[in-house]
Amino acid sequence: MSGSREFVRLDGAAVTLVFTLETGDAADCVYLGARLPDGEDLAALAAATARGRHESQPDVPPVPGVLPEGKAGWSGTPAVCLRERTEHAFTECATDFRLVAWEQYPTELILTFHDALLGVDIEQSWWLGASSMVCAEASITNGGGRMLVLDRLSALALPIPRRFSRLTSYTGRWAGEMREHSRPLAPEGFARTSVAGKPGFAGGNWLILEDPASGETLGVHLAWSGDHDTRIDADMVGSADGRAILQMGAAWDGGEVDLEHDVGYRTPTALFALASDRSALAQCFHEHARAAVLPARKGWVPRKVHLNSWEALGFNLSESGLMRLAVDAAAIGIERFVLDDGWFGGRRDDTTSLGDWTVSPDIFPNGLGPLIDHVKSLGMDFGLWVEPEMVSPDSDFYRAHRSGCLHAADRDRPTMRGQLVLNLLDPAISDAVFRQLDALLREYDIAYLKWDHNRDLFPAKARVGSVRNSQTKYFYALLDRLRAAHPQVEIESCSSGGGRIDFGVLSRSHRVWPSDNNDAIERLRIIPAWSQFLPLEVLGSHVGPSPNPITGRRAAMDFRAKVAMFGHMGVEADPARMTDKERATLAAHIALYKQWRGVLHAGDLHRLAHPDPNVTGMMVTHEGKALALAAQTAFSPVFDAAPVRLAGLEPGARYRVTLPEPWPPRAKHYLANSDSWREGLVLSGAALMTQGLALPLTHPETAWLIALERLPQ
Ligand code: DGJ
Repeated sequence: MSGSREFVRLDGAAVTLVFTLETGDAADCVYLGARLPDGEDLAALAAATARGRHESQPDVPPVPGVLPEGKAGWSGTPAVCLRERTEHAFTECATDFRLVAWEQYPTELILTFHDALLGVDIEQSWWLGASSMVCAEASITNGGGRMLVLDRLSALALPIPRRFSRLTSYTGRWAGEMREHSRPLAPEGFARTSVAGKPGFAGGNWLILEDPASGETLGVHLAWSGDHDTRIDADMVGSADGRAILQMGAAWDGGEVDLEHDVGYRTPTALFALASDRSALAQCFHEHARAAVLPARKGWVPRKVHLNSWEALGFNLSESGLMRLAVDAAAIGIERFVLDDGWFGGRRDDTTSLGDWTVSPDIFPNGLGPLIDHVKSLGMDFGLWVEPEMVSPDSDFYRAHRSGCLHAADRDRPTMRGQLVLNLLDPAISDAVFRQLDALLREYDIAYLKWDHNRDLFPAKARVGSVRNSQTKYFYALLDRLRAAHPQVEIESCSSGGGRIDFGVLSRSHRVWPSDNNDAIERLRIIPAWSQFLPLEVLGSHVGPSPNPITGRRAAMDFRAKVAMFGHMGVEADPARMTDKERATLAAHIALYKQWRGVLHAGDLHRLAHPDPNVTGMMVTHEGKALALAAQTAFSPVFDAAPVRLAGLEPGARYRVTLPEPWPPRAKHYLANSDSWREGLVLSGAALMTQGLALPLTHPETAWLIALERLPQ
């Protein structure tokens, strides 16, 4: 039964979406692209892109549209999967959702679909966020009284315009997050799910599609800190027009989302942005993160330089050693002293004591007070590491709450890093964890918590059955409760590095830990990958020791420090183990970071293209100022190094360009016109973006900073 056919457009500053809405039938998104002029004939637009029926298609070719289903011959993944409990088994429902209503607001469209036989409704919301980011969510309610379980509901199902034929996805491991893979969008499509109860190191919740001809870029993300299911069905048999369909949603175990007892289910938010190129896409995501995701702050708050004890001292903690470390930290310009793992219970290594969030008397006979007072007397504030969702079998907490961890009844309890996951759905457990953290934050002047999560969720089971999906909701609830009680405390989301990074957790925290790998060469890949979506101010970026504890590579302090400036800078090494020269170099870069963070943490990020794949270039422009980093990782003969071309400048404006010192120790000898670089060369934006700067990028592990200031016209 088909009713009226209408066309609706949703406009952002730079983007338009056009929907075809057929009441009693399907809803489709027939245009996604640059903003259309007012008055565009939408019916003509839809007609221009419609396809006639092919002989091999069903008599009525299905329109999967924004709610694809298996009905009528579409062979891709359905956006919704329901099963019904009958007397003897669960049987898959043949769903048939029809558009029954829609409401349009200036920046939002709500579509309601109904399956008359099942008596189930799905509501989809599409709305425009900051910087023309398009957000989508779906919810489902069971009004038919049947005993249903929900196995799948996509937050977003988006027919992809054909011009987006290049796909970039990510893979990754611990200490090697977000490896980018680009290739043509193949007929077999794409599918990626996570199973660890978190997005994971592999970034399956981030995706990019590009038009190779124009560079136009579509970036997609699922704002959810649990498991995801991301897929693109391409080359679908039976589809009316053969467009690929991209879907994103949360993933869970069969039977977990019960529509019989639950009120309903709402998906997390999926987001996508359209931009002219990769830099413009980064800027869209950053603007959205700053305006609509990150916890609001009063004005612009400088991101303090951290010193974190983990790669400085590890578990080798003593009160006197930490006091000494704090003195050395303050001397190089550190603003926040962070005590990482090992301060609580009997935790002298990683086999014990998670869950016992009380200060270890062996290390701190008088509690944390003396250390915090000392840190504060040195002009720094104090941060503390916690891992609240976990428990060590060897802990007082576990001995008191043996049934409080995720486990399968009467089965072994396999550990990972010697630990188990607490069942946060159990109010007694969540409450006990909250009370311990709350007591710490009440007793001590703690400005920041590094909230870690070092174990996958297996088995994600509790007495109620699978909790793979709901554990994340209860993690959010715990974090929200703590933040409500202590709104002044900054939170970092860490999960063995970048295992849980998404806009869901970022709406409740202030920064993320992108990777345990502090090796500057690795960071030159990891930071550009994350900063494709996340602004630099949320990406913890630390100067680690040399040799690096994970890769074993040695790198000069000048290189490590310049690379670490492009993020939320910190130090994760012991200054006492550095030479005087290294300490002075580090202190100079910390001072530079303080001078430039107002630009780095509020401006527009540009990725600098360079013909040498061993050169990484990034640049941030803000209110007439800019700072760029050009970093070389491998050897390149001196005359071969192509100039570094800048980006994001006004072609007609004039800029004073300097190379902030300290300069890289070896490369500086190859710099022509040193005095001019100190005083500043005045060049037009056009010259800087076209011709670029011939910097000595010869030696492996050489980095230059380039500072620009626009001159009055
Ligand atoms: C994993 C984190 O990623 C590290 O930075 C560190 O905090 C350790 N956990 C401590 O156990």
